[in-house]
Amino acid sequence: MAQNNIIPAAAGSVVSGRGERSIGAILIDAGKLTPEDAERILRLQREQGLRFGNAATQLGLITQADIDFAISRQFDYPYLVHGHSKVSEDLVAAYTPFSPQVEALRALRSQLMVRWFDTDPARRALAVVSAARNEGRSFIAANLAVVFSQLGEHTLLIDTDMRNPCQHELFGLDNRGGLSAILSGRGGPEMIQRIPSLLDLSVLPAGALPPNPLELLARPLFPQLLGELATEFDVILLDTPAAAECSDAQTIAVCAGAALVVIHKNTTRISQVRRITDSLSQGSATVVGAVLNEF
Ligand SMILES: Nc1ncnc2c1ncn2[C@@H]1O[C@H](COP(=O)(O)OP(=O)(O)OP(=O)(O)O)[C@@H](O)[C@H]1O
Ligand SMILES: [Mg+2]
Repeated sequence: MAQNNIIPAAAGSVVSGRGERSIGAILIDAGKLTPEDAERILRLQREQGLRFGNAATQLGLITQADIDFAISRQFDYPYLVHGHSKVSEDLVAAYTPFSPQVEALRALRSQLMVRWFDTDPARRALAVVSAARNEGRSFIAANLAVVFSQLGEHTLLIDTDMRNPCQHELFGLDNRGGLSAILSGRGGPEMIQRIPSLLDLSVLPAGALPPNPLELLARPLFPQLLGELATEFDVILLDTPAAAECSDAQTIAVCAGAALVVIHKNTTRISQVRRITDSLSQGSATVVGAVLNEF
């Protein structure tokens, strides 16, 4: 990997938000420019008094998308470029952070910060629940985790769906170790995986499918684990199995302390939502709100 000092700090005419790295250095590190390319850009930049990005695009070496990428890195607001990551394109918050869909996710994030998340460790976990399969719980949980991490919150996403897990696929992770190993005493917090391309985001995959997910979740180890993680992370989001299919979601939400209910527009029935909210309230989990997911 190229050293940051290959290009002098003055090379990038857009000054880093933290005064640290030039656009050129970021693009070299990302493999989008070679040091030789950077030299050519610098020469043109000097000859014609251009900004670094303009000189580079004039030479046809990078695109506007590359410049946006580098600027987002300078401001510690990382996002991914299509085709360059193992992370699934379903993570719209990571790939298209400026789209209206992601704007809606940021609005949801703000609501959750106002209504639930707090510095108190008892208010750092939130289960994302819904009644039936394929309503978008995993999509919402994963994208919310990305937007929380983009805010600089130290964020952990736990795949507590040990029946049909998918977060390892969304983030391109190894699922051999995960929550099921921790809850059965065969692993520890080392199962948590950092997502290097996204600052401040870690994921604990579900792990190997156990025959007894509900029993594992009902053991004291699960609330104990959440309690410990709440001292390390600002925000912990839990993806859950469909509430109508098993009792896992209720157990998970009660341990987390709160739940966000996902409603799939035009398919989720009001009676199903009422059943979930009643069962959560009986178990003393706070229902922080509901989100209407249309897709
Ligand atoms: N808001 C959305 N925009 C676009 N696609 C979406 C949206 N929500 C969900 N999807 C897509 O719908 C499909 C089902 O979503 P997801 O896997 O999140 O549902 P789920 O409720 O977690 O399902 P499961 O019961 O299998 O756990 C996925 O392919 C996902 O990418
Ligand atoms: Mg799911």
